[in-house]
Amino acid sequence: MKESQGKTVYLRDYQPPAYLIDETHLVVRLFEDRTLVHARLAMRRNPDASPESGRELVLNGANMELQKLTVDGRELAANDYTVSGETLTVSKVPDKFTVECDTLIKPQENSTLEGLYKSRRMFCTQCEAEGFRKITYYLDRPDVLSSFTTRIEADKAKYPVLLSNGNNIDSGDLEDGRHFATWEDPFKKPSYLFALVAGDLESVDSSFTTCSGREVQLRIFVESKDLDKCDFAMGALKRSMRWDEEVYGREYDLDIFMIVAVDDFNMGAMENKGLNIFNSSCVLANPATSTDQAFQRIESIVGHEYFHNWSGNRVTCRDWFQLSLKEGFTVYRDSEFSADMGSRAVNRIEDVSMLRTVQFAEDAGPMAHSVRPESYMEISNFYTVTIYEKGAEVVRMQANLLGPELFRKGTDRYFDNFDGMAVTTEDFVSTMEEVSGLDLGQFRRWYSQAGTPKLECSGSYDAGAQTFTLTIRQSCPPTPGHPEKDPFYIPVRVGLLDEYGKPVSLHMAGREHGEDIVLHLAEPSQDFVFEKVASRPVPALLRGFSAPVRLSYPFARDDLMLLMQFEKDGFVRWEAAQQLALQVINDLMDSRQKGNKKEVDQRLVTAYESVLELALGDAGIDKAMVAHLLLLPTEAYLAEIAAEVDVDGIHEVREFLRRFLAEQLEMKFLAVYEACLSGADYVYTADESARRSLQNTVLNYLASLDKPEHWQRVRQQYERANNMTDSSAALRALVNNPSAGSAMMRDELLAHFYEKWQHETLVVEQWLLMQSAAMVPDNLPQVVKLMAHPAFDIRNPNKVRSVIGAFCFNNAVSFHKLDGTGYEFLADQVITLNGINPQIASRLLTPLTRWKKYGQERQSLMQQALRRILAAPDLSPDVYEVVSKSLN
Ligand code: TRP
Ligand code: ZN
Repeated sequence: MKESQGKTVYLRDYQPPAYLIDETHLVVRLFEDRTLVHARLAMRRNPDASPESGRELVLNGANMELQKLTVDGRELAANDYTVSGETLTVSKVPDKFTVECDTLIKPQENSTLEGLYKSRRMFCTQCEAEGFRKITYYLDRPDVLSSFTTRIEADKAKYPVLLSNGNNIDSGDLEDGRHFATWEDPFKKPSYLFALVAGDLESVDSSFTTCSGREVQLRIFVESKDLDKCDFAMGALKRSMRWDEEVYGREYDLDIFMIVAVDDFNMGAMENKGLNIFNSSCVLANPATSTDQAFQRIESIVGHEYFHNWSGNRVTCRDWFQLSLKEGFTVYRDSEFSADMGSRAVNRIEDVSMLRTVQFAEDAGPMAHSVRPESYMEISNFYTVTIYEKGAEVVRMQANLLGPELFRKGTDRYFDNFDGMAVTTEDFVSTMEEVSGLDLGQFRRWYSQAGTPKLECSGSYDAGAQTFTLTIRQSCPPTPGHPEKDPFYIPVRVGLLDEYGKPVSLHMAGREHGEDIVLHLAEPSQDFVFEKVASRPVPALLRGFSAPVRLSYPFARDDLMLLMQFEKDGFVRWEAAQQLALQVINDLMDSRQKGNKKEVDQRLVTAYESVLELALGDAGIDKAMVAHLLLLPTEAYLAEIAAEVDVDGIHEVREFLRRFLAEQLEMKFLAVYEACLSGADYVYTADESARRSLQNTVLNYLASLDKPEHWQRVRQQYERANNMTDSSAALRALVNNPSAGSAMMRDELLAHFYEKWQHETLVVEQWLLMQSAAMVPDNLPQVVKLMAHPAFDIRNPNKVRSVIGAFCFNNAVSFHKLDGTGYEFLADQVITLNGINPQIASRLLTPLTRWKKYGQERQSLMQQALRRILAAPDLSPDVYEVVSKSLN
């Protein structure tokens, strides 16, 4: 067990730093077997340091060899300082002084992909959250802001391109075929935003003229083989820059903005000042190799990282408990950007669907934490959907409560007041309070209380009084360390539809409110009385998903059909379809348990039929919305809402229902499929990707029917496709609809696909993923086989996610197989990865931590696997924290 293992950091222990670093001057000399780092730090005592903070200087540092240390030019003797664990302590320093430090590190041996490391032939860095301390001794905390100059030296032939943050101020040749480049970043920043890249890279260059007329150079650096995949990201970057000017009044500050694509990366991308580093899968794309989904993801991540320049870099976090200050706000910003670029309704549905399956599950599990956590062992474990996605919902609620003008006034003041500072979520909320005059006192509980609030609603119509009373009761289940919850302040946007689906104009407390009202739920239970309601209405609840809650209402199936047909709000409409399907699935689960014949309520068929007819009849309809209306609740969502997950029941029933709908509506599905087909050249536009998403959704229904004629259709689509979206969808239709009759075709096309794309890493990742994630029982042998394939590499996170992750997260029937082989497999992989890349090991572990949701037999097998991991030697703090907390 490592010394740092099991140590908990608490928000309540926060102390301002005892020392500050005004200037950081780095010289990084890269060699094949080692890297030498020289750091010169201009430091002084922090005037705001708490009086009880000691006089000693404590620097963070890990995994390196200290070669020389001087203070004000005087080399320190061994007894002037101590190195222990991850700190270096100098016992006496003056009020103002210069530290110089020489260290030796071995990036070529660094498989954690944190700090300085090698990705293929390129050197690169990842410093968030605490990676800078693996490069040199430093005050590696976000509230220490410094200016940086960085001189990089390396072999010129191997590493012709040398990059760091800010502006290139000098470069030239050195002896022995080496060269150097010096970069200066004029903006003070915390160490987590530092970046360095050295490699044999080429760039696609362009420029952007800001709102004030300044020209900014834009450069995307890639290996030469990927030069044909940069155009889309470049366009997305320009759209992001324009959008941030128009919507937030934020202009880019440096004269250059660079993006570098790397193949080995733990996360999606990183917002280093002026030098964003991206996982190649989140930046490289062209129509031949990338799906519509990939384009969409790239646009949102390019936006996300760019938006961090203000929300994160110019205004940063005081400490890592404030992580959601930058991440929640920036996710909110990127999701609004995506909504403005494409279909707002569909974007919202996709965000909500992710939040409800993944974040709600996290909030109900052993790692549940609030948007501003109180403690952590390993900060890397807190880059979670709660910090990111729930954090974004909490910002969204504030934006909605204030309205567009006041929210803009609030963000203007926030950027103004806190520019160049490291602040807290409290600073954000109080700014919103200040500009609006609203009291957000109770609202702040969204930051401090974990768990997903549950709203139980009921309605009663009084024909005599012409009133409709909506009763809402709120509660929040206990989460680790927090058994009792205070009521939340919850904005619930609602409307009423009459029996013909027409919106009812709303009257409440004698006032008229139009067709839409935000109810302010603050008490454990409240009644909301609508007046002048002429007939029994159907409520449209939680429009726009106005708060991240679980809401239930005893809807009759006919009411859900009415909402599906007439409701204007995209989320409510989609949710009605999900609820209707859910009720039918519950019927089927019941019959399955009782051993009765499975009978499907015909109303679901009718509802799907009218959706398909809509797609055929109305040329202007949003086809992506239609595609979403035709998707049954996912297995992951069905598992999330179940008290105890019946893995096999869910899979069997959902598959049965999918095929049943395909049989009943075969001709309609076919008609929609044919109407969607197009021979036009590929373009990635909202309309065209919507068309393809509907086409491929119905193709998947057709492929579920055991019919040669449909397999031929799938083959035809595969062969004729002029883009990756359509060809990979055809392959997935075969993989996810296994049948003896199509097995040969599946194997043939999978082999053909690999043959054709084997030299395109990102395509190979998709090829691996679709096979690992295939929703078929007994898929583990296939996964084991893929791990032996030459394309697999356990040191590459994308490959690990495509094969191991896809299997454990997306293939419930196989992963949860009752013989425990899935759990054993994951435990083995986590133990191996713990020694290679703890961040990836820890993330992969998630499915095992949810053991409480399963039946006795699975529970004990899952716990057994967790205990085996816990007993493994040299457990990283990352894995230790997740395993130990989930066994509690
Ligand atoms: N700040 C990055 C983002 O959200 C996240 C990130 C990138 C990260 N790489 C990381 C977090 C490594 C932890 C570890 O945009
Ligand atoms: Zn981010």
